[in-house]
Amino acid sequence: MVQMTSFLLVLSLALVAAGQAARKCVLIGNWTNDLGSTMEIKAVNEEGSFNGTYNTSVSATSNKIVPSPLQGYQNCKKESSQPTFGFTVNWNFSDSITVFTGQCFVDKKGKEVLKTMWLLRSHVDNITDDWKATSVGTNIFTRRLPQKV
Ligand code: BTN
Repeated sequence: MVQMTSFLLVLSLALVAAGQAARKCVLIGNWTNDLGSTMEIKAVNEEGSFNGTYNTSVSATSNKIVPSPLQGYQNCKKESSQPTFGFTVNWNFSDSITVFTGQCFVDKKGKEVLKTMWLLRSHVDNITDDWKATSVGTNIFTRRLPQKV
């Protein structure tokens, strides 16, 4: 009887673990990051290509911030449940470009999280200023809660 109970316990733990691993991280939807920036990723096609809109909460410039387009790829060669991806944001309100690269994870609680690194290339007029034109950082994105209307 004790053996049977232990077997059932191990079986149910294995099923829970398998269930967690099987939960797929999906890029489509509305996300917010640790700076308060938001983005929407629209449909991902069968080649992994996607586009969307990025609304940054901060800027290296003093220009008025407006939403900007993003374009990227999700890697889908291995049909991973936690895919890698990259996207570029072409800022509408400045002459800079940011590239993000990251991975879509499902955490221990089953919550999706995008762990990213970015490179922001700012425009400089002179090649002698090239050394200070690129900044680097990380952002963590989680799903935006549904908005009340
Ligand atoms: C600019 O300042 O020229 C464009 C806006 C840059 C915003 C950066 S991109 C990396 C970081 N993550 C964000 O959500 N916003 C900043």
